[in-house]
Amino acid sequence: MSRRDLPAWKALEAHRPAIEATTLRALFASDPARADAMTIEAAGWTLDFSKQLATRETLAKLVALADAVDLRARIDAMFRGDRINTTEDRAVLHVALRAPRGEKILVDGTDVVPGVHEVLDRMAAFAARVRSGAWLGHTGRRIRNVVNLGIGGSDLGPAMCTEALRHYAPAEMRFRFVSNVDGSDFAEAVRDLDPAETLFLVCSKTFTTLETLTNARTARDWLVAKLGDAAAVAKHFVAVSTNAGEVAKFGIDTANMFGFWDWVGGRYSVDSAVGLSVLLAIGGDRFREFLAGFRAMDEHFRAAPFDRNLPVVLALLGVWYRDFLGASSHAVLPYDQYLRRFPAYLQQLDMESNGKRVTRDGTLLDVASGPIVWGEPGTNGQHAFFQLLHQGTELVPCDFLGFCTSLNPLGDHHDLLMANLFAQAEALAFGKTAEEVAAEGVAAALIPHRTFPGNRPSSTLLADRLTPATLGALIALYEHKVFVQGVVWDVNSFDQWGVELGKVLATQIAREIASDAEPALAHDASTNALIRRYRHARRG
Ligand code: F6P
Repeated sequence: MSRRDLPAWKALEAHRPAIEATTLRALFASDPARADAMTIEAAGWTLDFSKQLATRETLAKLVALADAVDLRARIDAMFRGDRINTTEDRAVLHVALRAPRGEKILVDGTDVVPGVHEVLDRMAAFAARVRSGAWLGHTGRRIRNVVNLGIGGSDLGPAMCTEALRHYAPAEMRFRFVSNVDGSDFAEAVRDLDPAETLFLVCSKTFTTLETLTNARTARDWLVAKLGDAAAVAKHFVAVSTNAGEVAKFGIDTANMFGFWDWVGGRYSVDSAVGLSVLLAIGGDRFREFLAGFRAMDEHFRAAPFDRNLPVVLALLGVWYRDFLGASSHAVLPYDQYLRRFPAYLQQLDMESNGKRVTRDGTLLDVASGPIVWGEPGTNGQHAFFQLLHQGTELVPCDFLGFCTSLNPLGDHHDLLMANLFAQAEALAFGKTAEEVAAEGVAAALIPHRTFPGNRPSSTLLADRLTPATLGALIALYEHKVFVQGVVWDVNSFDQWGVELGKVLATQIAREIASDAEPALAHDASTNALIRRYRHARRG
């Protein structure tokens, strides 16, 4: 049955005109308890969703939709380890990565939690040796530089978190992330590094990804050439992967490999061994705090009623905008420089998960699925794209993220930062009417230009400070939000077949580019011409 045929879906459609006919000004004026009623807390985070184009009635109708699509049963199936990734026949158990010792989660009859903790313990012991200087490079020097070679989930999560938690890392250590197959990425990342002090983490779930393996080979050549000894690889390369065979083939001793499992999706893997760079940055104890933050949000997600459940409320509001109010994008605006990479991280989490066009059983969707996710930290975005948010013709729901306490309390910087966050959310929601502009004495011709229509929705997420735990909880919040939306849209949020075709074509075109003889090209006329032009330019 199409989602459109559900009575709960129809009830939301019928409700839409009432919301379109009102304004946030009117909604706040008519309900003095609105801000309190539409604020919920969990795992160190407070969500104020009162500036959303929704009433308590809207939320009740959205929760009815969640009930109608059996959200509760689907949450239980994920936590139970059912093979909910049906197109790859896999369980989806990133929640097991933060399960405490002693909890039992079975995959095919085997408890996976002891294995999770065994890897975590090995990672922590390894990081302690590197950080203390017990693990030395090939020439006896301490490791000061960590370079993660990975892409997608093997890059975005660890890069985002290492940057987010930089405050907690030793100042003398440098962390770099090389993802692009563009050689400039590697060249610039190592340009000022001493190879004798550099540790490479080759991070790839499959250990077959073109970009990562190309960068890893280049890194190995660079290191061996600079240190003049192939044996140096043993002290300067470790691997993070599910594929021990390929790791060994590459030349990394599997004793220096940190494993994970096929039930961890790449974009859900930063709390697995994929987070090794994060652990090297913040140490084992803080990494456990990070995991505890995830876990706190997991527990809230499982236990809280849907209308008081942070991931569920954010997800349902997203569905409301996407499917009923016509929004095609969603902006995430962290008012914290440390979270600079958070929007990029979310892009993969959300768009690779819910950028789907068929339902779980392969039927073409007749509702809109995942939005375009984008964003930049505040206040920078204000001086770039906020014009469109305030006065453009697109409806862009926004998530504002901020912290009450700064990790770098310098003068009045933090108060100014937070004042801007609150001001932007207020201006978007309530705007400035033509009458108010006129009352300021603005010339009539300028009034339309200086009017702010308002009614532009946002949520505000606040935590006390950016810590490993609040970061973990924030990531889990969005992981579960994406899951809930996938359930509502009835898509498989855990596969990514859409990335395959380009990979296959690129392999073929790379062969055609490299061939000495003029290749017989069988692409379309445009692609054929572009390849010929490139071959010609390359050969001079
Ligand atoms: O191309 C998409 C993808 O498969 C992502 O889902 C994944 O995170 C990324 O490539 C990297 O994959 P791997 O960790 O296997 O190198």
